[in-house]
Amino acid sequence: MSKPRILTGDTPTGRLHLGHWVGSVENRVKLQDSYDCYFIIANMHAFTTRMEDPAAIRQSVLDIVIDYLSAGIDPVKSTIFVQSEIPAIAELTFLFSMLLSFPRVMRNPTIKSEIRDKDLGDNYPFGFLLYPIGQVADILAFRPSLVPVGEDQVPHLEMAREVARRFNQLYCQVSPHTEDKDNIKAGGLFPVIEPLLSNTPRLVGIGGPNQDGNLLKMSKSLNNAIFLSDDADAVHKKVMAMYTDPNRLKKTDKGQVENNPLWIFHDTFNSDKAWVEEAKDKYRQGQIGDVECKKKLIEVLIALLKPMHQRRQALLKNPEQILEVLKQGTMKANEIAEVTLKHTKELIKQDYIKELRHISYSN
Ligand code: TRP
Repeated sequence: MSKPRILTGDTPTGRLHLGHWVGSVENRVKLQDSYDCYFIIANMHAFTTRMEDPAAIRQSVLDIVIDYLSAGIDPVKSTIFVQSEIPAIAELTFLFSMLLSFPRVMRNPTIKSEIRDKDLGDNYPFGFLLYPIGQVADILAFRPSLVPVGEDQVPHLEMAREVARRFNQLYCQVSPHTEDKDNIKAGGLFPVIEPLLSNTPRLVGIGGPNQDGNLLKMSKSLNNAIFLSDDADAVHKKVMAMYTDPNRLKKTDKGQVENNPLWIFHDTFNSDKAWVEEAKDKYRQGQIGDVECKKKLIEVLIALLKPMHQRRQALLKNPEQILEVLKQGTMKANEIAEVTLKHTKELIKQDYIKELRHISYSN
């Protein structure tokens, strides 16, 4: 029996940090035993906002491969590949862009909030609006059973579901009354995919709240991240400088545990729950110092990152492995995406010259 297929991925915007670990990467490492996992590095999506810096995008792609492998994604079990080397994705993007209306794309709430949060005004490139459709193609090219993502990606997944239904109805004679889960059974090419939502809330950063008093999520651009690639020294420095209860000036002051990154981190990463609960009590009563609690957290984080660090060191000794993993993964991914494209072209009756395809595939 073949395992059900999963597709998910990342836009290469920088090295991965602890927020990525708890939000998705840890889960992927677990999923790879029971699922056939495909992880796409969406480098063309990075061009929507960083088109002037191709060298940085290239470096981010390589960094993500290193981060994945160091974090324990096993290239024997899972397929890591780069978006721009899968021609079928670009071709499907063009076709799928016919199946959604322009206002429909503009109603995508993630697109709206990105325009607002990244201050894009009305001067964003056309390709920015195209990227969610590109993401639909990333997904449907692999016809996966599940797509594990965070909450913010759900609007893109909803578009993938709409495109799948529309395509199946237009070109595979699937009745509009067919239930989502029955689309394949009814002769459709594309599954109406399901999101697999991670239930961990977003990890906060180490730098404290914004003006409204809300803790900010961990993010490279907010300069409040602990990276998976940080060594023991960097972890030590960052945790020691971490924001805690600002009203607590000395050990005997009563401390606040809620909304305090120190305790959010202990809750998230420290498996010694008995220690955490006891220390929280003492903290509330002014019986334990910040430094002691931070030292404990440093131990916990270093224990988590150490095996990653070791795998990273080994990898960096043979850097040609990195491109090799990407090459093998991309070749394997292309076989699958090409089969999807072949079926697609037949169904839309645009299969004229099959011999032209330079990527060979076996089935
Ligand atoms: N847009 C996703 C993000 O920024 C990355 C991504 C690209 C993706 N293609 C995908 C995720 C396909 C899931 C499936 O996080």
